[in-house]
Amino acid sequence: MTTQTTFTSTITTIERHILEEQQSHPEATGVLTNLLYDLALAGKIIASKTTRAGLAEILGEAGDTNIQGEEVMKLDRLADRTIFRLNDHTGRLAVMASEERAAPINIPDRYRAGKYVLLYDPLDGSSNIDYNVSVGTIFAIYQRKTSEGRGTLDDCLQKGRELVAAGYLTYGSSTMLVYTTGAGVHGFTLDPSVGEFLLSHHNIQIPKNPKYYSVNQGYEENWSEGIQRFTHYLQGREGLGTALSLRYIGSLVADFHRNLLAGGVFYYPAEKEKPEGKLRLAYEAAPLAFIAEQAGGYASDGAQSILDIQPESLHQRTPLFIGNRDLVKKAEGFVRDYDQ
Ligand code: AHG
Ligand code: MN
Ligand code: MN
Repeated sequence: MTTQTTFTSTITTIERHILEEQQSHPEATGVLTNLLYDLALAGKIIASKTTRAGLAEILGEAGDTNIQGEEVMKLDRLADRTIFRLNDHTGRLAVMASEERAAPINIPDRYRAGKYVLLYDPLDGSSNIDYNVSVGTIFAIYQRKTSEGRGTLDDCLQKGRELVAAGYLTYGSSTMLVYTTGAGVHGFTLDPSVGEFLLSHHNIQIPKNPKYYSVNQGYEENWSEGIQRFTHYLQGREGLGTALSLRYIGSLVADFHRNLLAGGVFYYPAEKEKPEGKLRLAYEAAPLAFIAEQAGGYASDGAQSILDIQPESLHQRTPLFIGNRDLVKKAEGFVRDYDQ
């Protein structure tokens, strides 16, 4: 495994890349390959909507009707519905779960249930959409645990260690899809002129020397002593030497993506009023933790790897520290030394 991301010059579409990855798994049946295709298509559709979000048919309150008599919906509901409608009838999934829906989403009775489980955050960073700041989509794919019939909540509550694939789309200055199936992390950039995701970042490895730290410093007063001291360390005030630059835009996917490519640490810690933090384990922390580890990084809740946490409920929250392994381990050290 090389120690740095290679920027590729050959033209490889995501379809060809996924197919080539499938060919290295003789037992593969192509179902996961097709599921990843469908998620790439969902990303293209959502991207086309986010780049037009300023137009009347998207902004405005969900439930209104626009001048064409179409239902106006917030982008996160539209993204949620896009992913659902692309996946409900394919026979690849046993069950789905979305940040936007309280309970697991059953595959309609008229369709066959399949062997995978899809958990997703259809639009991450949605508070930013009206200000034209980058947003994203996050997905996590597991094998079902139940043997037949419709999938259950149990199928959705698996440790991140069991992930079969994970990825995200980031809708920013360009649209990118980044995913892993456990064989490295690969990034694709959408060429809108041909509607294809082209391989642009092969085998992403988080740079050894971090540049950034990402946290909402506005909450500093609510943090524990350990987190405050960790932050001072990152600012070069407690032995780190050179300070890191603060970059935080309030979209987890965008903040994570920048640190994955440039090196750094993102954290959303517990606070006095939010003892579990804000971010959700199943469809935000765990899939990004799988990607981080595959890229040579690490993700923790401040005490243990995110991937080792057994979810008890679908929308369970967790504190999250993710990025360069040594910085996340340092955070665990400060929590252990000052907060236990
Ligand atoms: P979502 O839009 O899916 O609810 O996620 C928003 C999350 C995450 O994207 C971001 O890191 C965090 O909210 C920002 O929270 P604060 O505004 O409290 O910093
Ligand atoms: Mn989110
Ligand atoms: Mn969301």
